[in-house]
Amino acid sequence: MKKIMLIFGTRPEAIKMCPVVKELKTRSNFKTIVCVTGQHREMLDQVLETFEIEPNYDLSIMQKNQTLFDITTNILNKIKNVLEKEKPDIVLVHGDTSTTFVTALACFYLQIPVGHVEAGLRTYDIFAPYPEEFNRQAVGIISQFNFAPTEKAKQNLLNEGKNPKSIYVTGNTVIDALKTTVHKDYSHPELDWAKDSKLIFITAHRRENLGKPMHNMFRAIRRVMNEFGDLKALYPIHMNPIVRQAADEELGNFDRIHIIDPIEVFDCHNIMARSFLILTDSGGIQEEAPSLGKPVLVMRDKTERPEGINAGTLRLVGTNEDTIYNNFKELLTDHIAYERMSKASNPYGDGHASERIANILTENL
Ligand code: UD1
Ligand code: UDP
Repeated sequence: MKKIMLIFGTRPEAIKMCPVVKELKTRSNFKTIVCVTGQHREMLDQVLETFEIEPNYDLSIMQKNQTLFDITTNILNKIKNVLEKEKPDIVLVHGDTSTTFVTALACFYLQIPVGHVEAGLRTYDIFAPYPEEFNRQAVGIISQFNFAPTEKAKQNLLNEGKNPKSIYVTGNTVIDALKTTVHKDYSHPELDWAKDSKLIFITAHRRENLGKPMHNMFRAIRRVMNEFGDLKALYPIHMNPIVRQAADEELGNFDRIHIIDPIEVFDCHNIMARSFLILTDSGGIQEEAPSLGKPVLVMRDKTERPEGINAGTLRLVGTNEDTIYNNFKELLTDHIAYERMSKASNPYGDGHASERIANILTENL
């Protein structure tokens, strides 16, 4: 029996890896082991609880205001023992976080094969997003199995000279999760609060946006909220204290903006599905919104998710205050522009990505 170890550590990795864990656990040909680094604590645990997954190992590395050095060295030091003890036949990592990069590096040092879920996303600017673009490119050098969510991601890997036999287009596992979460008869106190208004859904956390760019975003949002009395905004805020302080300074004391703790993924998907517009710098939300048919203003200069732009759902607006303000306002006043962005389309898969990954591993391990 082959031993598969899944290692992840942050909220988005957990949301996208839990469906893979669930699927692998149904397969009797594998022993499936889960190790979390705990790069995130509360936000990770929230997802593990939702999917009812109890990790076999928890490295518990999170520190308040951790630096990239902290994350990298703490994971590298702690993961060696786990890998040496378990000797997995393959380790699956996800996406582009520091957990992902450091885990792949540790596997390379120990010569353990790596499978990369959500492989091949690229901006080709290693500072945007930072450090994620570097992380995913580096994992791409190490991984033997590349599970690309789309043809475009596969093409990126082929252009880089990757062995075509190592690349499989599977769809994105986030769609597997999304298929099970959104329900017609959903209710939430925040939706009741916003029921007579247009609901604006906000998230922001990117490392390269901390500081001035993030203040710009929040100022633009506040200006528009001030001008349009029929808006209410819900902002489930990331646990990062720097983000929290900026949001408090710029968006605090505004009765039509609710800043709340991170919400369960089930609530998040259902609330996004009922919102009017999304403003975010998140990666995963850019993948979920096209399926939900919700326009997204992406507060970044570059995206590794061009499929959502091509689908018409995403618009890159950068982090300049006036540009965000103008784009936000346009979607409130120009119905045609809004409608053009609201068409549901699904460039990221059919909800069976985890099944495909398990099948590929069954055939090739
Ligand atoms: C990390 C990833 C990023 C991913 C994001 C998803 C890296 C370098 N960054 O960024 O790619 O998009 O997660 O959210 O891998 N904190 C808590 N509790 C939590 C989570 C975070 O208190 O549950 C606080 C801590 O003070 C922590 C800080 O947030 O030090 C930042 O967390 P960190 O994982 O370093 O960076 P993120 O911005 O979350
Ligand atoms: N999300 C969530 N609760 C929240 C905010 C976001 O469950 O309060 C989900 C969201 O639906 C998406 C994922 O978290 O699936 C995105 O995570 P994040 O923005 O932290 O990271 P990124 O995708 O940018 O790496």
